Amino acid sequence: MASRHRVTVFFLFGVLLLLLLSSRSGGRPAQKCRGNKSCQPARPPVVLIPGDLGNQLEARLNKPSVVHYICYKKTDSFFTLWLNLELLVPFAIDCWIDNIRLIYNRTTRTSEAPPGVFVRVPGFGKTFSLEYLDPSKQSVGMYFFSIVQSMVEWGYTRDDDVRGAPYDWRKAPNENKEYFLKLQQMIEEMAEKAGGPVVLIAHSMGNMYTLYFLNQQPQAWKDKYIKAFICLGPPWAGVAKTLRVIASGDNNRIPVISPLKIRTQQRTAVSTNWLLPYAHSWSKDQVLIRTPSVNYTVQDYRRLYKDIGFDDGWLMRQDTEPLVSDLLPPNVEVHCLYGSGINTSEAFHYSNNFPDEEPTVVNGDGDGTVNLRSAIQCKRWVGQQKQPVFLKELRGNEHVDMLTNYTTVAYIKKVLFSP
Ligand SMILES: *[C@@H]1O[C@H](CO)[C@@H](O)[C@H](O)[C@H]1NC(C)=O
Ligand SMILES: *[C@@H]1O[C@H](CO)[C@@H](O)[C@H](O)[C@H]1NC(C)=O
Ligand SMILES: *[C@@H]1O[C@H](CO)[C@@H](O)[C@H](O)[C@H]1NC(C)=O
Ligand SMILES: *[C@@H]1O[C@H](CO)[C@@H](O)[C@H](O)[C@H]1NC(C)=O
Ligand SMILES: *[C@@H]1O[C@H](CO)[C@@H](O)[C@H](O)[C@H]1NC(C)=O
Repeated sequence: MASRHRVTVFFLFGVLLLLLLSSRSGGRPAQKCRGNKSCQPARPPVVLIPGDLGNQLEARLNKPSVVHYICYKKTDSFFTLWLNLELLVPFAIDCWIDNIRLIYNRTTRTSEAPPGVFVRVPGFGKTFSLEYLDPSKQSVGMYFFSIVQSMVEWGYTRDDDVRGAPYDWRKAPNENKEYFLKLQQMIEEMAEKAGGPVVLIAHSMGNMYTLYFLNQQPQAWKDKYIKAFICLGPPWAGVAKTLRVIASGDNNRIPVISPLKIRTQQRTAVSTNWLLPYAHSWSKDQVLIRTPSVNYTVQDYRRLYKDIGFDDGWLMRQDTEPLVSDLLPPNVEVHCLYGSGINTSEAFHYSNNFPDEEPTVVNGDGDGTVNLRSAIQCKRWVGQQKQPVFLKELRGNEHVDMLTNYTTVAYIKKVLFSP
């Protein structure tokens, strides 16, 4: 039950809404190994890249106006904006929506926080911000904890040879350029210190971020610094559920939250629009949204955005669609793990009140969030790159629950401790 609740809360607002060694690597002469991949430490350093909604965000306020008298206009310091369950209750949620939403600028084609709202990502290079989304460590916000805790039991040290790379998941890579520089620098530092290449472990949208990052790096850099890329629940071809999110909002069946109200915030997250299903994997004949007058497929997004009264969304889609839509191989060893066998939204039927109503949902195969057809797209890299590509289907694994599943954790251990 705790798990169900956790999953529910986790996906509330987004896509919408991972041989014990006795010796430590400290004494290892890093200099000797520099730039020599065959000289690897017994235990590779690990960087964790979270998904949409997958790390804490903090905010400080000094706003010209507020949407409700109970909302704070000014705060002296930063407070937790995500995940903070106290902010997601009736009335307070109106303030929250007005603070976490983004405003798109059609001239600069970038998004920014509303006037007087300052958002920052805590804990780059550390793990706390993605182990628990809620700093009070309530189980509902538990995310990478099981994987990190297991790694500590295998000899790893938090914030040393296992580190996190949190980011502003409301945005897509085009608006997170500094993040990739920091990520590159951290990987280089960790590899130099350990005397060997790093393993990247990403979840959900974090895989799209990591692919984008790897596609930008020269092959010599990847050969030197990356041992493997472990992909957990990757949405390579987007996620059908995002269509419902932008059309009518998704409260994930939490009755106190109005879908139409939360829609306002959900739409403005550029990353939601980046994750709409991609034409390279969805058939142009497949109806994704059905209304009495129109059938919308992957080819009808322009019209869809117009019809739902969200023209900015079409611009956001155009800004972000090319980022990884070619699905160029990462050219590093890939382990692609994904859940299946769980009802996963794949189409939505509306009546004449479209888009201001709850749709009837048509289910397909997947992990409950990511459609199976999207997750398996890593198979196209087999033979496209000289490094090996492994696929592992985890039947019965839900999108977030897979992070705590023994099979996943054991797989990660095998990759980390194999030569
Ligand atoms: C790389 O490391 C291997 C194994 O330790 C060693 O045999 C080899 O000489 C090293 N190569 C260079 C160029 O340092
Ligand atoms: C968009 O950005 C431009 C250039 O920085 C600025 O002049 C303009 O005021 C912005 N538009 C809005 C609506 O904030
Ligand atoms: C939409 O597609 C369905 C079959 O998927 C079809 O029965 C229906 O007539 C189509 N509606 C329109 C408006 O084209
Ligand atoms: C999956 O969805 C189908 C209908 O789409 C429903 O009949 C079935 O009970 C659902 N299974 C679960 C486990 O929710
Ligand atoms: C863990 O994953 C395996 C492989 O998919 C599955 O058979 C098992 O039921 C899962 N365990 C739990 C507790 O979900």
